[in-house]
Amino acid sequence: MSFHIGAKKGEIADTVLLPGDPLRAKHVAETMLEDVICYNKVRGMLGYTGTYNGKRVSIQGSGMGMGSIAIYVNELITTFDVKNVIRVGTCGAVHDSLKIGQVILAMGASGDSGANRHYFEGLDFAAIANFDLLMEAHNVAEKMNINTIKGNIFSTNTFYDDNPNRWDKWIKHNILAVEMESQILYTLAARLNARGLSILTVSDNIITGEASSSEDREKSYVDMMKIALEVA
Ligand code: HPA
Repeated sequence: MSFHIGAKKGEIADTVLLPGDPLRAKHVAETMLEDVICYNKVRGMLGYTGTYNGKRVSIQGSGMGMGSIAIYVNELITTFDVKNVIRVGTCGAVHDSLKIGQVILAMGASGDSGANRHYFEGLDFAAIANFDLLMEAHNVAEKMNINTIKGNIFSTNTFYDDNPNRWDKWIKHNILAVEMESQILYTLAARLNARGLSILTVSDNIITGEASSSEDREKSYVDMMKIALEVA
């Protein structure tokens, strides 16, 4: 048991997929895994363990934002000895060429995480994906004929902001998309000696204003989940 995860030791697999939405964790566990147990209901942040093609894997809701995911990632690694933490989430693209449903493998996560600055006393840690997981995700996606883009993304704690030019300098530096969790996931994986990766699908385009229908979202979410489950 930990503060926020009510599992017993051994109930959580070495590899945990982390969608933001706990009901997404439930849906994936129920439709894509076998021999499923629910190990966590604390605060409604559902967590499940099951098997995919015979391999054990867990899927844990992370909530939204870096404060929330940091709690789950810390406890998964330090209390439950988890080795691989893989975020599976959505992002808003900031390049007009990026289409809804595009899968992005986040090589690095820039961002505004206060925790990051706090750990490094104001200096900037380069929050990067684990190369083995990144490579594996690239390879399995190619095998499944799913196109992925690899690059740097931005994790923010502020979904709403007044500045219309907010993303200009980040776009200039080839940031592909914006989301709210990966930067601290990568930092914590490094800090706690685990491996981290974020696999994202574009749910909306911040520049063009395009947003996905629920069918598009479902289809691209399935592609992303298949990549993550194969990596696991
Ligand atoms: N901003 C932040 N996070 C997001 C967005 C966004 O526009 N879309 C999906 N996740």
